[in-house]
Amino acid sequence: MKNILCIGAGYVGGPTMAVIAKMCPDYEVNIVDINEDRIQRWQSDDLPIYEPGLKSIVRETLNKNLFFSTDIAGNIKKADIIFVSVNTPTKTFGIGAGKAADLQYWEKTARQILEYSDSDKIVVEKSTLPVRTAQAMERILNSGDEGIHFEVLSNPEFLAEGTAIKDLLNPDRVLIGGHGTETGRKAVAELVKIYTHWVDSERVLTANLWSSELSKLVANAFLAQRISSINSVSAICDATEADVSEVSRAIGMDSRIGKKFLQASVGFGGSCFKKDILNLVYLCDHYGLHDVANYWEQVVLMNQYQKTRFVARMIATMFNTVVDKRIAILGFAFKADTGDTRESPAIDICHQLLDEHACLTVSDPQALDNAKRDLADYQDLVTFEVDPYLATENSHALAILTEWEEYINLDYNRIYASMVKPAFIFDGRNILDHDQLFTIGFNVYPIGKPPLTHI
Ligand SMILES: NC(=O)c1ccc[n+]([C@@H]2O[C@H](COP(=O)([O-])OP(=O)(O)OC[C@H]3O[C@@H](n4cnc5c(N)ncnc54)[C@H](O)[C@@H]3O)[C@@H](O)[C@H]2O)c1
Repeated sequence: MKNILCIGAGYVGGPTMAVIAKMCPDYEVNIVDINEDRIQRWQSDDLPIYEPGLKSIVRETLNKNLFFSTDIAGNIKKADIIFVSVNTPTKTFGIGAGKAADLQYWEKTARQILEYSDSDKIVVEKSTLPVRTAQAMERILNSGDEGIHFEVLSNPEFLAEGTAIKDLLNPDRVLIGGHGTETGRKAVAELVKIYTHWVDSERVLTANLWSSELSKLVANAFLAQRISSINSVSAICDATEADVSEVSRAIGMDSRIGKKFLQASVGFGGSCFKKDILNLVYLCDHYGLHDVANYWEQVVLMNQYQKTRFVARMIATMFNTVVDKRIAILGFAFKADTGDTRESPAIDICHQLLDEHACLTVSDPQALDNAKRDLADYQDLVTFEVDPYLATENSHALAILTEWEEYINLDYNRIYASMVKPAFIFDGRNILDHDQLFTIGFNVYPIGKPPLTHI
């Protein structure tokens, strides 16, 4: 039985390996992490991350061919294939701070692999990395004198949080980058063999290492660019009384454009989009491509603009002051169906409202623990409440910041009755029935659509 190891039991490592274990019963899959608590939770009923469909797959495979452990050395020794899925956040210090990828966890892992290996291994980059990181990895791994051969592959992960299991079971494509040498081709074939257990071989693409690394950054840059583009259009709509949903529909039916990722909102979040674009920007600057860097940086700047624009509109609408006003924040996760709040637009929006001395009640079905950590600096001004009816009671306004389905079907008559009048709704995801809310009595402010107001 071939032995797979994944280093890093996070949002990518956990679900990816659980799906490999399920679809490849002929492989033993081990996952290690330095975080003991995470490893314990993966083996309990209280998984460390929320993803629809994840729990049943972990239950089905746990301790059959899927194992979690903190024994990094022992598991490296017995592995044939090592996926590295550690975090690669934006650097917060030194050269490249605020843009470049912080590769310290990545490099430590490479050194651990070198230290504990006593046989040949295939090492797979699963983390998102700057182009040519595989070369640095190879240099570290080949610095030993044990005569062990390490073949480095790039296999970026394209799953989206909230639909991770669906994406993993039925991926649009799997991308595997490797060297064109004999050992490189053999290693690529080993990885292809794993994925073709359940993915059609036409969807398993192979490429050179650098194309593969770059494709992941570019995929995220293109996705985020669409969100920033439609959000920039929402600002034009707000100025002109055009309706961004109508514009999205009209342009999305053009088959060259397509309709996905054309939903105006408070902006994109998540641990990846901003980090990966900035990583691309840094890379462009590094190669002297400053015009290209500036082009991509605009995607991030537009995202920031959209959040600030949303808050400015809330304040202007509520008579230019939110001091001591209770505002209910419905949704704190960066998107629906996840508890993840990393880079969630809700964080910036709440900070800006709190700086204006508003009092917030934050509600979210999955993300309140993370929200408490994200807003820890403002303890006195924020309360947290799972129940959206209690969260909105006695509030002057409510703002929808995550597109949770359950917010569409709330009893807004009941919510309106319990709120301070005039009552405001700021729909930062354009998911509610605005006409109905207006009929109930709310003053309704969608994004990129004319507001419906009684005042
Ligand atoms: N989250 C996503 O949706 C997503 C999607 C595609 C790609 N990615 C990329 O995948 C990578 C991982 O992302 P994530 O969201 O799973 O991160 P994460 O922070 O959830 O998980 C990373 C894990 O690695 C562990 N770790 C760090 N250093 C280690 C070491 N030396 N040994 C063992 N474990 C170590 C951490 O403790 C953590 O549990 C990143 O590069 C990210 O850009 C993420």
